[in-house]
Amino acid sequence: MVSERLRAKLNEQIQKEFYSAYLYLSMEAYFLSQNLDGFANWFHIQAQEERDHAMLIFDYLNRVGAKIELGAIEAPPTDFASPEEVLQKTVEHERLVTRSIYDLFDLASEEKDHKTVMFLQWFVNEQVEEEENAEKNLASFRFVKDDPKGILLLDREMAARVYTPITSTNSQQ
Ligand SMILES: [Fe+2]
Ligand SMILES: [Fe+2]
Repeated sequence: MVSERLRAKLNEQIQKEFYSAYLYLSMEAYFLSQNLDGFANWFHIQAQEERDHAMLIFDYLNRVGAKIELGAIEAPPTDFASPEEVLQKTVEHERLVTRSIYDLFDLASEEKDHKTVMFLQWFVNEQVEEEENAEKNLASFRFVKDDPKGILLLDREMAARVYTPITSTNSQQ
């Protein structure tokens, strides 16, 4: 079991992860409209990973016998001024998610809910990677932003990303 407070917060986190997926799908749509298919691919995979994050929490709540309650997913922004703005917003969004994971971690620690602390550890590490990737994409784009050839090369690099499903088995490593 988990406390009622923790249960509510974990359910909110499911919502935030699905919102992340929704936001990244909207960003994918923007890149498709700009004919930057490699960037679009990167965000497509990012959205898949966010759904995996949501499902890890969904499965966890079920395993500890806590009620799963899915809330409404807010509409993401649909207009972006430039690829740079999208990449900047991604960095900001991931920092926000990290904060939210830390709040959950703090609550589970305060409550001495060790199993939930252990469960959340994976998310703490995952956020290091999420922020790192988002920052790297932004920095790479800034290097080449005035050079169309550079943008095309970067787009090709982004096209190479492949999706590996995150499941509760491989997330426990
Ligand atoms: Fe996530
Ligand atoms: Fe993320």
